[in-house]
Amino acid sequence: MKILFVTPECAPWAKTGGLGDVSAALPQALMRLGHDVRVLMPAYRSMRPLLAQAKRRHTWPAEGPWPEAQLAEVEAGGLSLLLLDCPGFYDRHGSPYGDPGGPDFEDGARRFGFLSAVAARLSIDPSPRRGWRWRADVLHANDWPTGLAPAYLGLDRHRQAVSVFTIHNLAFQGMFPVERGLSIGLPQSWMSVDGALHWGQLCLLKAGVRYADAVTTVSPTYAREIQEPEMGFGMDGMMRARAADLHGILNGIDPESWNPTRDPLIVQHFDANSLEGKTVNKLALQHRLGLAESNEPVLFGMVSRLTEQKGVDLVLDNIDWLTEQGHQVVVLGKGEARFEQALAQAAARHPGQVSAIAGFDEGLAHLIEAGSDVFLMPSRFEPCGLNQMYSQAYGTAPIVRATGGLADSVDDAQPGTDKGTGFVFQEPTAMALREALQRALTLRQDGDAWRALQRRGMARRFDWALSAKRYEALYRKLQMRQRPSA
Ligand code: ADP
Ligand code: GLC
Repeated sequence: MKILFVTPECAPWAKTGGLGDVSAALPQALMRLGHDVRVLMPAYRSMRPLLAQAKRRHTWPAEGPWPEAQLAEVEAGGLSLLLLDCPGFYDRHGSPYGDPGGPDFEDGARRFGFLSAVAARLSIDPSPRRGWRWRADVLHANDWPTGLAPAYLGLDRHRQAVSVFTIHNLAFQGMFPVERGLSIGLPQSWMSVDGALHWGQLCLLKAGVRYADAVTTVSPTYAREIQEPEMGFGMDGMMRARAADLHGILNGIDPESWNPTRDPLIVQHFDANSLEGKTVNKLALQHRLGLAESNEPVLFGMVSRLTEQKGVDLVLDNIDWLTEQGHQVVVLGKGEARFEQALAQAAARHPGQVSAIAGFDEGLAHLIEAGSDVFLMPSRFEPCGLNQMYSQAYGTAPIVRATGGLADSVDDAQPGTDKGTGFVFQEPTAMALREALQRALTLRQDGDAWRALQRRGMARRFDWALSAKRYEALYRKLQMRQRPSA
C-alpha cells in the first residue's frame, strides 16, 4: 500500500511529546511490512537544514486560499519525508504550534489547513501539472493539526484513497473562530454541530473524527474512556456515534532509540542480567544533578510535560514525604509556570535530594530512565504514554494511575505474588499516589523481589511490529469497504 502519514511532529527534528516519537517509529514499522510510506510534515525552522539534502523539489502552485510552496523529498532517519516548504507559515521561532512558553500562533487554522489540503491532494490525483505522480492509497492523519485532511479528502466523490484519523490526545482540539474556516475555503455545510463546529467554534479535531473513514486512538482503554462524559471533552456523544469505526491500538516503543543494551545517551549499558550497570547510571545521574551519590536512597524520576494532565501536583504533594524518608526525586519537565515554580521551590527546600530541571533534554531523559529506581506517571488521563514503557525496558518500576494506555501497559505488583511490572493506583489524588509509593518502597526492601519485578518489566515487549499489523489490517478493511471488488 502507498501510505501517506501526515503529522505536525516527527522526532528527532520536531518533537514536543509522544507524537514525535510515534511519527518516527510507526511509519518505519509499516515500511518493514513492505509498504511504501511517506511522512508529510511542515518544513519548520528546525528542519530546514534537511532541505539541503532533498532528492527532488516540486513547486506547488498557489491555489484557492493557499500560497505557492515547495514540496521537498528527503530521505532521513530511515524515513521518506515530504517536507512542505512554505516559509511564511513554518519558518518561525518556537515550537510547531507557537512561541516558546506563549500562546499558539493565531494563524493555526491556515498553517495546518494548508498541510491538510496538501495531504488530501496527494491522496486524490497524481497531478502531472505539479510533476508529481505518487498517489496515496491510505491517508493517515494525526491529531488536530491534520484533522482537515480526511475532511478535504472526503469532498472528492471519486476518491479511491481511504482515511484514518488518529487521536493522540483529545485535550488538544484545534479550536478557531468560524470566520477562519470560511477564509480557508471550508464549505458552509461544515459549519454546524453535525459538521466541524464544537461549542460554536471550528474544531479541527472534530473535522478529523467526523470525516475520516475510521478513527483510532492510541490505547484500547482510552478508546473506551473517550466515549464517556468524564474523559470525552464534550465529544463523547460523537465518539459513541462513531463507536463502530473507533479503534484503540496501543503504541509501541522504538527498540533502536530506547534500549539499555545500546543506548548511546546513557553512561553504562545493562540488561536484565547485569542490573549493576543500572546503578552506575544512578550514580552518574546523581552526580550530574548534584544529588547525594549513593545507591541507598530510592530515586524517583519523572520526565513530562508539566500540565494538569500529567498529575504533577500529585507528585508535588508527596515530595516532602519522600524526602523525609531520605529518598530522592528528579523531575525533568517543561510546561505551566506554576508547576515549574513549585518544583524549583521543592528543589530549593531539599538540596541534594530533589532536582528540578526546567527544559527539554533528550539525553537527560534517557539518563533518568536508566538511573531511576522508580518512574512517576500519575496522569489524570493518558491516551497511551510512552515513558511507562521505556521505564519497564530500563528496569525502572513505573507508578501509574489506572487510565488509558497506562492501564493497558503496566501490570500492578500485588504483595506476596510474583506478578507485576509496576504499581497501579486508581484515584487521581495525592493519597492514592502515596499508597502506591508506599507499596513500591516496601517491595524495594526485598532485593530479590525487586530484581524479579525489574526483570519482568524488562522482558515485556512493546513491539511496534504488532501495532503496525493492526493498522495494516484496518487500512485493508477500509479499502475492502470502499472497493468491495478490489
Ligand atoms: P505526551 O505525548 O503526552 O507528552 P508521552 O509519554 O507519550 O506523553 O511522550 C512524551 C515523550 O516526550 C517521551 O519520549 C518523553 O521522554 C519526552 N519528554 C517529555 N518531556 C520531556 C523533557 N522535558 N525533556 C525530554 N524529553 C521529554
Ligand atoms: C499524546 C498523549 C500520549 C501519547 C502520545 C503518542 O501526546 O498525551 O499519551 O503517548 O500522544 O501517541
